[in-house]
Amino acid sequence: MSTTYGSFPGTRPRRLRTTPAMRRMVAETRLHPAELILPAFVREGVSEPVPLQSMPGVVQHTRDTLRKAAAEAVAAGIGGIMLFGVPEESKKDAVGTPGTDPDGILQVAIRDVRAEVGDDLVIMSDLCLDEHTDHGHCGVLDAEGRIDNDATLERYAEMARVQADAGVHTVGPSGMMDGQVRVIREALDGAGHQDVSILAYTVKYASAFYGPFREAVGSSLKGDRKTYQQDSANARESLRELELDLAEGADMVMVKPALPYLDIVRQIADAVDVPVAAYQISGEYAMVEAAAANGWIDRDRAIMETLTSVRRAGAGMILTYWATEVAQRLNRGE
Ligand code: PBG
Repeated sequence: MSTTYGSFPGTRPRRLRTTPAMRRMVAETRLHPAELILPAFVREGVSEPVPLQSMPGVVQHTRDTLRKAAAEAVAAGIGGIMLFGVPEESKKDAVGTPGTDPDGILQVAIRDVRAEVGDDLVIMSDLCLDEHTDHGHCGVLDAEGRIDNDATLERYAEMARVQADAGVHTVGPSGMMDGQVRVIREALDGAGHQDVSILAYTVKYASAFYGPFREAVGSSLKGDRKTYQQDSANARESLRELELDLAEGADMVMVKPALPYLDIVRQIADAVDVPVAAYQISGEYAMVEAAAANGWIDRDRAIMETLTSVRRAGAGMILTYWATEVAQRLNRGE
């Protein structure tokens, strides 16, 4: 019997899976510390880091431990840090005043981290009102309690200015207000911050997986964000958001969440010529940690697998709460 090639038994895909060295050599996707971005929370008025129950291993930092985490991130060679401020409860109000106070916790944290790491890490900040408002929405409300898009934009413009003044390299508008990238670009340019870049949360779905983040930022949100974040049933809408954000001046675009939306990551990656990020969010983190804590999945393998999948789907950069740990593992050659 003559051997047939291009089919079994001549062709055997398993030959390229025989050894770790073979698998490593033919791997199409690799993770690198530089493409990982660490989201980090810093809480005002605490002297010890506060552990998050729904995100085991993640804390609300003190100013001091945030600086240490940033230094550790630099040592691990990761690309950036995305800062979220958690103001004291008593300072939150309907318009999110701590978000535009030059001495608000987020601005203080940006200055701290910049002083600690300089330009060795891309310092990014969440540009959104929900961490700073007493109602927990990403914008200001009108008399009927609805989100006032255009009034919110004015707040975002002011936030962009104070964050840039504090020394941030990149702002991350995450509120999904129409026109936000444009007003932020104009505000930055108008204040002489032409070099501050915008990582736009271009595609952001109204997701149940943000659950643990509410604990992380002490949000008192009631209801949901479905009038501003996207419906998970829709894919084409993401292309529309993309078109708008690019036209408004986004330097980089983001898809969020990551794992349940890998088709969208691929769609966006195929459509753009700017860097694409994906955010592996709090609920994605919590699912893996919870299952691993129960002994149901292999934690370390699951982390690498999810990150590789997000990368394979086309994200050049990944925000993940495991960023430093994974970078350290990659540096050890794991
Ligand atoms: C809004 C914002 C959220 C997250 C990042 N920026 C919450 C939301 O949109 O509801 C979620 C991040 C995560 O879940 O890890 N400021």
